[in-house]
Amino acid sequence: MTHPLPSYLDAQHLGPWGIYLQQVDRVTPFLGSLSRWVETLKRPKRALIVDVPIELDNGTMAHFEGYRVQHNTSRGPGKGGVRFHQDVTLSEVMALSAWMSVKNAAVNLPFGGAKGGIRVDPKTLSRGELERLTRRYTSEIGIVIGPTKDIPAPDVNTNEQIMAWMMDTYSMNEGATASGVVTGKPLALGGSLGRREATGRGVFTVGQEAARHIGLDLKGARIAVQGFGNVGGIAGKLFAQAGSRVVAVQDHGGSIYRESGLDVPALLAHVAEHGCVRGFAGAEVITDPTFWSVPCDILIPAALEQQITPENAPQIQARLVIEGANGPTTPQADDILRERGVLVVPDVLANAGGVTVSYFEWVQDFSSFFWGEDEINERLVRIMREAFAAVWHTAEQHGVSLRTATFIIACTRILQARELRGLYP
Ligand SMILES: NC(=O)c1ccc[n+]([C@@H]2O[C@H](COP(=O)([O-])OP(=O)(O)OC[C@H]3O[C@@H](n4cnc5c(N)ncnc54)[C@H](O)[C@@H]3O)[C@@H](O)[C@H]2O)c1
Repeated sequence: MTHPLPSYLDAQHLGPWGIYLQQVDRVTPFLGSLSRWVETLKRPKRALIVDVPIELDNGTMAHFEGYRVQHNTSRGPGKGGVRFHQDVTLSEVMALSAWMSVKNAAVNLPFGGAKGGIRVDPKTLSRGELERLTRRYTSEIGIVIGPTKDIPAPDVNTNEQIMAWMMDTYSMNEGATASGVVTGKPLALGGSLGRREATGRGVFTVGQEAARHIGLDLKGARIAVQGFGNVGGIAGKLFAQAGSRVVAVQDHGGSIYRESGLDVPALLAHVAEHGCVRGFAGAEVITDPTFWSVPCDILIPAALEQQITPENAPQIQARLVIEGANGPTTPQADDILRERGVLVVPDVLANAGGVTVSYFEWVQDFSSFFWGEDEINERLVRIMREAFAAVWHTAEQHGVSLRTATFIIACTRILQARELRGLYP
């Protein structure tokens, strides 16, 4: 019988969640006796769908689809961002929540995995509408989030201000300030130094490690970045500071190229003013499909998922792909890159810097004692380097990709915790 909504255990035609299920199947043979618990990973613990109604500025009512999914909480409270985007689906939020479980375990943070989202293009809303949307969503998911239950954070199109509104809404409902309910907050509200740059810094750190392992000198290395927001913009800046040449950038406004390297600080200023790379002087405009075949050494997808596909993977010229975005490479494209000898540092490792400093923020909020930026960056870099080294070692040991190696380490940790806790009741 064909159901209009297929079971979430059906890996076919399920979008990002189907990709995640295939990744779990790939890791299962390496889990030894823990594989008897693997079904745990294929079923989100809890998925909440909420209606988010708001009054628009013109007096009419609008309803938006909202989600919060807690994939796994065996190792600690749920942790993961909130995305505001017109293409948000339950499948996407489920997959992103599962990748958070894997990511948190991969860098050994005491968190499970969760994710949330609203299907909305926030660019179409006024500031007042955005605030009402955020507050109503927070109130609706308030029954499942909390500083020791599930801690949201920023993701695509959500920022420090949105985290401030989320923290305030939750706190008003609780009757007490609960700064640990979200991370990625403004500094004035218990945010952490270094959080804004953390994901990009983590991408850069694993990039340094991976480049060293394949004998690629970052000085003069050519970098192509898709997405020039929080992750791609900061990563691009750090690579440029290390002497690399950021030769191509693509974002929702188009694609630009400059063989000798773009002026990254000027491009960041342009994007801050105009919202995208379109119209940036001192670069050649290229078509979006051409972006994938530009001559480069390192490619950093840092926008959305399913961007590297069987269609463009054969054209990619980079030796190294560092996944800043979540789920940017489809499993088939992953195989093509591997066959072509392109090293892929997977999202669940490469972009874990953000949640690592979110963890620091959460710890600082609990103790109401705040650390200096150098201390934060130093701890972040140490965690990322150690995680990379462990993944590299596991990949060599089993002859598998860095993605499968990361999944082996992470899923083993999650399922060990599951086994030790046992099944309730
Ligand atoms: N911000 C974090 O701390 C963090 C942490 C881990 C992972 N991530 C992941 O990194 C990715 C980017 O997140 P962000 O926080 O930088 O978001 P952001 O909103 O700051 O930036 C997103 C970027 O993607 C670009 N983009 C959007 N649609 C596009 C399209 N169709 N084609 C090309 N570019 C497009 C936008 O123009 C923008 O430059 C997401 O996959 C997110 O889940 C973010």
